[in-house]
Amino acid sequence: MKTDSDFLRDCMDVSPAVIRSIAERYEVDPDFVATAIAASIDDACFYINVVRERFPPGAHLLEAGAGLGLLTLLLERHGYSVSCLEPFSGPFSPYADVRRLMGIDDHALSGAFYTDMSQVPTGEFDGVVSFNVAEHVADIREFILGLAGALVSGGAMVVICPNYNVPYEPHVGAFFTRPISGESHPRLWRRLNRFQKDVITTLNYVTYQDIRALLDATPYRLSFDRAIFPMSVRRLMESRAFKKKHPHLSATSSRVLLRLASMVAGLVPARWLTPMLFEVHRPKESAH
Ligand SMILES: C[S@@+](CC[C@H](N)C(=O)[O-])C[C@H]1O[C@@H](n2cnc3c(N)ncnc32)[C@H](O)[C@@H]1O
Repeated sequence: MKTDSDFLRDCMDVSPAVIRSIAERYEVDPDFVATAIAASIDDACFYINVVRERFPPGAHLLEAGAGLGLLTLLLERHGYSVSCLEPFSGPFSPYADVRRLMGIDDHALSGAFYTDMSQVPTGEFDGVVSFNVAEHVADIREFILGLAGALVSGGAMVVICPNYNVPYEPHVGAFFTRPISGESHPRLWRRLNRFQKDVITTLNYVTYQDIRALLDATPYRLSFDRAIFPMSVRRLMESRAFKKKHPHLSATSSRVLLRLASMVAGLVPARWLTPMLFEVHRPKESAH
């Protein structure tokens, strides 16, 4: 059986001609496009395992912020019934075009495709999954509570995003003490392309306590899974695409420190670990 990574490469056209045409259309370097696609494949192959550990095949899932749609393809491959929420908002608007150019939209979706939260039905999904999205949404409360409302009784939502209590910004692989901008980080800013700068301006710098506060006094049960930290460190050791995305963390000294940190991660409060993986459970309502 093909690996997930080979399966994805067979589902889409990532020929040099397509990469060049995306690069020209959006005025970015072809290397940047190729690296971003490799990183997206690597992410999808990682996240599919997070989903498979939590939901049985056949579950009706909503993927929120599907982006290029690579995880969607893997969810369908592994037997889930999938609907997507993807607004193609702000700097992510080119994704609609890129999906078409790469042939991703040629693959049928078993469920519905929503472009706005207002279209998402309530009480419908066994699971909601959302990776690398919560840090970009304009209104985190509306996003999390809106998606939690889409769960069936007993359903669960799984979210992975950075925890900005830890001053490391994963999109640009940089440590920071103030929100990243041209003024606060002029040297870093100069080496970013327009797309990266626009993505940085969407960041809401969400933290562990923001998530706790917004689910406080709701009927939902919230839990954080600290295992995501050692899993991410292992990824940094093993995945070429992930290493390339985090060059500062790939230096030998950082890797030794991270390996040590991952060994004691079970003792570190989730408040101080990034990325964060949290689950929101809708309690089972008893039938009368
Ligand atoms: C960094 S991309 C991540 C895409 C994909 N999940 C991944 O891991 O590759 C963030 C995505 O979130 C989407 N997004 C932004 N605001 C959103 C919202 N309020 N609801 C759903 N998706 C949103 C963007 O359109 C974009 O596709």
